[in-house]
Amino acid sequence: MTPEEHKLRQEMVETCRAMDARGINQGTAGNLSLRYGAGFLITPSSMPYDIMQAEDIVEMGWDGTYVGRRPSSEWRFHRDILKTRTDMNVVLHCHSLYATSVACHHRTIPAFHYMVGVMGGTTLRCARYATYGTQGLSDAAIEALEGRKACLLGQHGQIALGKTLDAALWMAIEVETLARMYQQALVLGEPPVLPDDEMERVIAQMTRMSYGLGPEEEGTNDVARKRD
Ligand code: 13P
Repeated sequence: MTPEEHKLRQEMVETCRAMDARGINQGTAGNLSLRYGAGFLITPSSMPYDIMQAEDIVEMGWDGTYVGRRPSSEWRFHRDILKTRTDMNVVLHCHSLYATSVACHHRTIPAFHYMVGVMGGTTLRCARYATYGTQGLSDAAIEALEGRKACLLGQHGQIALGKTLDAALWMAIEVETLARMYQQALVLGEPPVLPDDEMERVIAQMTRMSYGLGPEEEGTNDVARKRD
């Protein structure tokens, strides 16, 4: 293993532990993959994150062959998403409490709040239910992720994508926060939805400002000018 690969594996372990620390994962639910070499790196199946080491991360090829430990049972959707979504490098899956409870009702989250736009469209879709670890679940996830950076999985959990490990973690936390806000808003009745033309403006604004991509990303800001 090259020092570069070891470093990436270590970063994956740290991202997994951050999922636990941020309260979006529990037990051995959840998994993480990162595009690398002639395929991708993926977390092993059924291993608690606090004991997982860089060496436990599994190397997989696009044909589903692997080196090392038994890969996550969800390797199919990780592979298929990384293969189809060439704009993304990381797939993060977890059973975060609020996102999963909304997904248990098969609800797609509408644009009740402008931050739904950060996932790439006017809704945060919920994929139809399919048995975990199957090609059916992978197919359902690919459909729900069309033009989106995240989706819910019916009666299962959520998937968040990113160009980087940090971006995918950020997205998963956003999904969880929105799901929590949505459930809280529902206490007062179904909240109104922002119209499509407003969501178009929101998404254009987010794209222009590189919103949510971290401070290092370039973006123009309409109101503030950097001093010379
Ligand atoms: P693995 O431990 O096999 O990754 O499975 C956890 C899970 O969340 C299945 O959806």
